[in-house]
Amino acid sequence: MNRREFIQSTAGLAFGSLVFPHLSFAEQDEWIATFNQNLKIKPWLIGWQGTNQETLQTKELEIKGKIPQDLNGYFYRNGPAQNEVHGKRYHHWFDGDGMVQKFHIANGKISHFGKMVDTHKYLTEKQQQKMLFRAFGTYLPRRIANVDRINTANISLLPLNKRLFALWEGGSAYEIDPETLKTIGIQSWSPQTKGLPFGAHYHQDSDGSIWNIGYASLNDAIVLWHLDNRGKLKQFKILPIENVPMVHDFMITEKYLVLLLPSFRFDKAKFMNKHSFLDAHYFDKDQATIVWLIDKDTLNIQKTFELPAQFVFHFVNAYEQGNEVVFESMRYPNADIFNVFTEVMRGRSKKFTEAYPYRVRLNLEKNTVVEEKLSNIYNEFPSIDINETGLVHTQVVSLQQRGELFLNSVAINNYQTGEAQHFSYAKQLAEEHLLIKDSRGNDWVVGTTLDYGEKCTKVNIFNAKKLNDGPVAVAKLPYVLPLGFHGKFVNA
Ligand SMILES: [Fe+2]
Repeated sequence: MNRREFIQSTAGLAFGSLVFPHLSFAEQDEWIATFNQNLKIKPWLIGWQGTNQETLQTKELEIKGKIPQDLNGYFYRNGPAQNEVHGKRYHHWFDGDGMVQKFHIANGKISHFGKMVDTHKYLTEKQQQKMLFRAFGTYLPRRIANVDRINTANISLLPLNKRLFALWEGGSAYEIDPETLKTIGIQSWSPQTKGLPFGAHYHQDSDGSIWNIGYASLNDAIVLWHLDNRGKLKQFKILPIENVPMVHDFMITEKYLVLLLPSFRFDKAKFMNKHSFLDAHYFDKDQATIVWLIDKDTLNIQKTFELPAQFVFHFVNAYEQGNEVVFESMRYPNADIFNVFTEVMRGRSKKFTEAYPYRVRLNLEKNTVVEEKLSNIYNEFPSIDINETGLVHTQVVSLQQRGELFLNSVAINNYQTGEAQHFSYAKQLAEEHLLIKDSRGNDWVVGTTLDYGEKCTKVNIFNAKKLNDGPVAVAKLPYVLPLGFHGKFVNA
């Protein structure tokens, strides 16, 4: 498919010709009532309540312990924040409008500023005081001209060449002012690629260039991106594929892009028949999960492997070793996890679905695959030293579920040596923690938690060598931030 055909196809399929009858909102009102009722008996649900504030600010956070003196910079995070829009509640955690959080760490102090991303969707609904647009897991019948009309910019962030972008995965990046967090607008990397989906889990190569993917389910395609370290488009490619799998993340090695196409696929006909984007997906336990090794120079698929049916949100990393490409992932046996994040929006908790760390070895000569389970503890949100991207990695920071209640621990594992440390938070739910280097090269683990006992969000800083000892500093906000997804640290 060339670009012209692709864009024509987008125009034809992007909801423009569909007219559905109006839904009754009675059910959605019931979601608010059910959530609020459950919140009274399950205090941890406060993390999914959401906010209706445009901005949140605290000039100096209360700190217990001592912020490391060489740790200075900006810790940005993104996630869904407005989970209820003018009296209607979304049906999935991934739906809410994005809010970018900025924690500025300087001279032993931390300030916080959070601001909603002024997307087209957010501004239009604010102006009309009404939920108007369909979201990832919430169906609404309104026609839209293109996918960026429902872009919530709520998954992650790309800091690049002193610029900052809020990332979704179905549409374009939104540029944000890194200081004021004011929304600058939709980013188009070139006239030829305007409106093509730019995913949330890009990877930065050793030369500073940026690799990314995007899945265009309505267009039967996956888009590959390569930007230079200043954000100039070097190369892109549109790969056709039917029943587009939900590809949230991917990996790079020295020679390859590694894409896993999970057995969780899009049914376009179902989508056209009054279903949300999520509900138009199906998990096929009999369909292999495909691995593509894509040549970084040509962007051609060089090799294909098959794995047992599975779903993966996040990969640890991939690297080349002899005749093998090796990668590690947080592997789910199916896609039931999506239902967990539906039910939590009405306060009906379910056990967190199993994601276990796996290592996969792809032998390029023998064309064989070996999967190895690395732990029997549920793990998610892996993070490594970004300087090890595409190379053999050493330390893996991740969140773990120890006990019944979602992710409540942070761990650091070296799966090569078997060294392992963890710290369990009491009455707190953990959000993604990052492994970062300070200005002297010391390793720190930085991440936020929701303290549902104290009803506040906290920033926790650990010495990576002594994670077991607990945080060396905890900074407390005077409010709860809605539970979010991903962040980046920019050293000052
Ligand atoms: Fe993610």
